[in-house]
Amino acid sequence: MRLAGKSALITGAAKGIGRAFAKSLKSEGANVAVADIDMAKAIETATELGEAAMAVELDVTDQASIQRAVAQTLEAFGQIDILINNAGVFTAAPIVDISRDDYERVFDVNVAGTLFTLQAVARHMIERGQGGKIINMASQAGRRGEPLVAVYCATKAAVISLTQSAGLDLIRHGINVNAISPGVVDGEHWDGVDAFFAKYENKAPGQKKREVGAGVPFGRMGVPEDLTGMAVFLASNESDYVVAQTYNVDGGQWMS
Ligand SMILES: NC(=O)c1ccc[n+]([C@@H]2O[C@H](COP(=O)([O-])OP(=O)(O)OC[C@H]3O[C@@H](n4cnc5c(N)ncnc54)[C@H](O)[C@@H]3O)[C@@H](O)[C@H]2O)c1
Repeated sequence: MRLAGKSALITGAAKGIGRAFAKSLKSEGANVAVADIDMAKAIETATELGEAAMAVELDVTDQASIQRAVAQTLEAFGQIDILINNAGVFTAAPIVDISRDDYERVFDVNVAGTLFTLQAVARHMIERGQGGKIINMASQAGRRGEPLVAVYCATKAAVISLTQSAGLDLIRHGINVNAISPGVVDGEHWDGVDAFFAKYENKAPGQKKREVGAGVPFGRMGVPEDLTGMAVFLASNESDYVVAQTYNVDGGQWMS
């Protein structure tokens, strides 16, 4: 129970990696706000988690929605000790086919959503004066560009940079900002990635997943639960001296 008495707001927590984070933080004793744009799924996840969890409607691209989600979490739990900025969307296209609309949609969720949710929660943490833990979701895609994934890669590189700047700015308030950089994690997100590669590289459905899984030094794709140990560590007091870092949790894919 490393997080007993703590309260967490997790964005994009209705499913996938965010849902696994919600479960693991709850099992370490935290109250958890399961915040998502998909309210039906958020309610399902929060109900499954029981009393310590609450579904919160949140669109990270909408400033008013962020304010409401933070206020609702504070009303229910009295404090936010932990924020996991997990909501994210994927896109892929050759450079010559990237549309401005798609660029803006993906940057809005992955970059602006991360920054302004972080800002809203950091304001609360500073006012409360007891520090806090903020964890952003980067990606191996943020470590290096890829031919078909320019926009998504750029958003995750921006998340790594924001983690460094916010981490250095906020540590004087006792707020640790760090990021997790996953490799390839199976689930709906990767079903979508697989479909993009089926379209652009003429692969059979499921082929890209099999190829990337076989290429991971650990020997398989990740599952959301592979990431929860790092999330609990970064959310706990054990990480107090860890500042502005991005940790690869990817089965050995990337070294930096
Ligand atoms: N799955 C992977 O291989 C992988 C690898 C590296 C990084 N990541 C990152 O990890 C995070 C979680 O990925 P996942 O695989 O669980 O994805 P997912 O698609 O399964 O889940 C994403 C969640 O975010 C929510 N969401 C989307 N837009 C939102 C918005 N505007 N406001 C609030 N919620 C919104 C969705 O409803 C969904 O519940 C993302 O930031 C993703 O970029 C994933």
